[in-house]
Amino acid sequence: MSLRVKQAETGLGLIGCGGFARMIAKAVRSLPEIKVLALVDKIQDRARNLKEEYGFTEARVSSDPADVLGRPDISIVAIATPPHSHEELSLAAISAGQAVFCEKPGALSAASALKIARTAEEKGVTAVVDLVMRQNPLCLILGIIVRSGILGEIERLEVENYAHDERLPVDHWFWDKHKSGGIWIEHGVHFFDLVNFVLDQTAPEWIWASGFVREVPADKEGPDNEGKEGKGQAIIEDRVMAVAWYPRGTVVSFYHGFKRPERYERTITRVVGSKGYSALYGWMPMRLEVEVFPNSADMVPCKNLLSEAADFGGSRLHALQPAEMPDLYLVHDIEITDTEGKYEIEGKYGTSVSSTGLGSNAGCVRGSYQLGPDRRMVYAGCVRAGLRDLIRATPIDRPAADYATVARALTVAEAAEASHRKIQSVRGR
Ligand SMILES: NC(=O)c1ccc[n+]([C@@H]2O[C@H](COP(=O)([O-])OP(=O)(O)OC[C@H]3O[C@@H](n4cnc5c(N)ncnc54)[C@H](O)[C@@H]3O)[C@@H](O)[C@H]2O)c1
Repeated sequence: MSLRVKQAETGLGLIGCGGFARMIAKAVRSLPEIKVLALVDKIQDRARNLKEEYGFTEARVSSDPADVLGRPDISIVAIATPPHSHEELSLAAISAGQAVFCEKPGALSAASALKIARTAEEKGVTAVVDLVMRQNPLCLILGIIVRSGILGEIERLEVENYAHDERLPVDHWFWDKHKSGGIWIEHGVHFFDLVNFVLDQTAPEWIWASGFVREVPADKEGPDNEGKEGKGQAIIEDRVMAVAWYPRGTVVSFYHGFKRPERYERTITRVVGSKGYSALYGWMPMRLEVEVFPNSADMVPCKNLLSEAADFGGSRLHALQPAEMPDLYLVHDIEITDTEGKYEIEGKYGTSVSSTGLGSNAGCVRGSYQLGPDRRMVYAGCVRAGLRDLIRATPIDRPAADYATVARALTVAEAAEASHRKIQSVRGR
């Protein structure tokens, strides 16, 4: 049995109608099997505005989550409140027999996530966390490539995440560790999960981490600060860095910095193996590049694997594709250059064969994959795919980001957060 959402048309109640609720609204609106029947925000006007903006005409608006919990016509409770409320709301919905689609991190600790996973199991309902990268076709392709072994032994993986702080005024819950859990838990959870997935591991052997702070005027302008008086200086931890050692000897570093406008935020995840390299571009990845240097006998199998990975990624697009939006696409080019410098390109433009002089790329197979047409569409598509995953889940066909999976990522995040406090002064010695 599924969800174990039972009806053909599923009633959904959304708790938390702030910023990210808009992304969920876009995703839900494109799923005909889901009907939004309740919108809840403790600031009720936000729920009312969301109802009007997205035309959820059948939704009842309220300021109290209790109005959704246990409502017999609502079988999915979506939660988009700040992280400190995720555990309580998820457990309440599950205990009332409802499936849960919770925004990340889903809970503030691994123990809480495991408790939610266990309660869901006991109650026979499905509970997932919205780890959007788990639905992104390029992340899935990267997983196939790394796990296939064509990059050889993975020596190094590097996450460089230059994020924006444009909508994060000083008194935003994001900066308050009691509410968000801090950057590792609130945000890092996406990347710890991605690395666990790509390396096919559950956790690193150890992790070292630190955090870096800056002073900002406490009355810095922002939507939540309007009309407030200046409060002097505030200190916020806006950059964190970690190094982890994974089984089989992979050194992984994570950097997250929230210090720039959204317009030029940038994220690159690089993988370095003994036989090649790969780079994934974008926090919501839009481009993937792979370069492999196989033995000559392995060149064609390697090229075939890169092609098959593209086909697999392409086959996932339908889960992301909302009916009312322009078509999402995934294009790829695979180039094989033999040791004599002859190359062949396969991709969206068909196959061509020609000859070049022998260059440094001799004996190399290259793949590049590009998602389009637009990052926000792919983002909303990944939320949509996560919801589909929930609706279609069965005890055998489990969703990609259930609470047990999230608990593993949170275990790493908690260790990073704990490591923070053991910093050694150098100048003070
Ligand atoms: N999956 C992703 O990629 C992604 C991206 C951004 C944010 N998020 C997550 O989404 C969640 C919400 O983030 P946001 O940026 O929308 O925050 P937000 O502050 O803009 O919105 C949260 C809303 O929840 C309401 N709220 C708070 N507590 C409530 C309660 N107990 N009952 C009812 N309403 C309550 C607030 O009034 C507010 O309107 C966070 O967990 C965040 O980490 C996920």
